[in-house]
Amino acid sequence: MNIRVITKQEIPATLTNLKKIFKDQQGPPFIREHTKEEIAEKLVRDGYKVVSAFENGGEIATVILKDGKIYALGVKDYARGRGVGSTLLSEAVKGPCSVNCLKETVPFYLKNGFVIEEETPAYTRMKKR
Ligand SMILES: CC(C)(COP(=O)(O)OP(=O)(O)OC[C@H]1O[C@@H](n2cnc3c(N)ncnc32)[C@H](O)[C@@H]1OP(=O)(O)O)[C@@H](O)C(=O)NCCC(=O)NCCS
Repeated sequence: MNIRVITKQEIPATLTNLKKIFKDQQGPPFIREHTKEEIAEKLVRDGYKVVSAFENGGEIATVILKDGKIYALGVKDYARGRGVGSTLLSEAVKGPCSVNCLKETVPFYLKNGFVIEEETPAYTRMKKR
């Protein structure tokens, strides 16, 4: 598996992949509300980092983060449960980190050293020091 930062030119294709990953869930609002080109522009302008994992040349997972906050993390369904999400996270994020995640994803973040900070009906806020 190869993990690297995604360039501005590559972001629209990466967003297409992320949208497919979130097909049955809503995904982060900024992915739903703008065109892919608008999102690429905003991500680069505002200093977000987009990091993906590749296997046999295909993109299998992506994380979008900024200032130690995770805005999106998704692994293609056929690649789940074999450490891809955990490896991507540990490569992309060094140091303290936080995320607002869905209830279903809490076990994944607990496994990766996060603790629960706050639970709301919509999401769980988790933090890693
Ligand atoms: C949550 C997610 C990123 C985990 O990535 P992954 O590569 O499957 O995870 P890893 O293999 O590194 O870690 C395995 C742990 O993740 C959790 N996990 C595995 N598959 C999962 C799934 N389909 N949904 C939620 N959590 C899952 C389990 O706790 C698992 O631990 P276990 O093997 O002891 O049961 C991935 O399942 C995913 O993309 N889900 C859909 C999108 C999503 O919900 N993203 C999170 C937004 S905050």
